Amino acid sequence: MASLITGNKFDPNTDIPDLSGKVYVVTGGSAGIGFGIVAHLLQHNPEKIYLLSNKEEHAEEAQQELAKTWGDASKVEWRKCNLESLKQTDETARNLAKELTRLDGLVCNAGLGVGPYNESEDGLDTHMQVNVFAQAHLILTLLPVLQKTKDSRIVSQSSDLHRAAPSSVKFQSLDEINTDIGATYLYNRTKLAQILFSRELIKHIKAGQFGTVSETEGLPWINSTHPGAIKTDQQFQAEDAYGTLGKIGVRVVRPFLGDPVDQGCRPVLFATTSPDIVKEQIQGAYIVPDRKPTDPSSQAKDDELSASLWKLTKEVLESKIGNLDYTM
Ligand SMILES: NC(=O)c1ccc[n+]([C@@H]2O[C@H](COP(=O)([O-])OP(=O)(O)OC[C@H]3O[C@@H](n4cnc5c(N)ncnc54)[C@H](OP(=O)(O)O)[C@@H]3O)[C@@H](O)[C@H]2O)c1
Repeated sequence: MASLITGNKFDPNTDIPDLSGKVYVVTGGSAGIGFGIVAHLLQHNPEKIYLLSNKEEHAEEAQQELAKTWGDASKVEWRKCNLESLKQTDETARNLAKELTRLDGLVCNAGLGVGPYNESEDGLDTHMQVNVFAQAHLILTLLPVLQKTKDSRIVSQSSDLHRAAPSSVKFQSLDEINTDIGATYLYNRTKLAQILFSRELIKHIKAGQFGTVSETEGLPWINSTHPGAIKTDQQFQAEDAYGTLGKIGVRVVRPFLGDPVDQGCRPVLFATTSPDIVKEQIQGAYIVPDRKPTDPSSQAKDDELSASLWKLTKEVLESKIGNLDYTM
């Protein structure tokens, strides 16, 4: 429910509270919407932001841009984390888990867009690996420190395109995941999975699988978001998948898309920083711009589907990474 006082507006320049002493991890913070998220967190004086991404040159550009306008960029530390490599994701996740004494927000924003089917070095569809499995591992590895930080947040950047996931999606096997269902469906499926994973995670935490949970402790505020239709490099991935038609489509659509730094970052920043999340008990929600919890698709509310996704994620992480610090 949007606040009666503020309506549905969340201006990141003025509505983020002072973040003194707080620590954040943001995946995909080097470009597009993720850059907007990091920039506005930095604007409000946090203790530290860990920016996780793959390409060093993007991270360097982001650091320079942050230093120009947004605050003390030395508070933003880049950690290389190629989500297409579970080994590297695991290394980064475990190092952070060892180092952090508090974590106020984990933002899982990194993502592959509508694009061609590929398999990772781990033998997985790269869309599911980057957007879902690798970030699930990050969430679960950092869960203990999130659980001990009061009113911490876990936010997954989904998309309204989750509504157009194929009805045949069951999340039942690796064979199903490693089938090329087409560039758009590959993307939509992951955006559905992100909402399902968040909802299922809440159930498992509440059931005590990750330690004792009380009214006020042990359960972070876990939500998914849709950023709006935003102008970023992500649209160019569709050109690879759809050739000339893709190029024309992208050029027609781009002028009408929103700005990542002013607009695309708003729902995530609301979910990650606003005290209204606690006041209004916004848990397991799907939040659309700027700050509106909204009904996701019926697939995204399907308990059987979320249970299958959980089971498959467990199989993938146990078999591909192994020796996990958590039990799913
Ligand atoms: N743009 C939209 O209209 C829109 C709409 C709905 C949802 N979304 C979602 O919003 C999120 C951000 O999208 P965006 O439009 O800002 O995209 P973007 O400009 O393409 O940025 C993507 C970010 O993800 C990171 N990333 C990609 N592959 C990675 C990998 N293998 N390992 C680690 N990091 C990786 C990139 O880091 P590198 O620089 O290292 O590649 C970059 O920081 C995505 O989850 C997307 O699905 C976007």
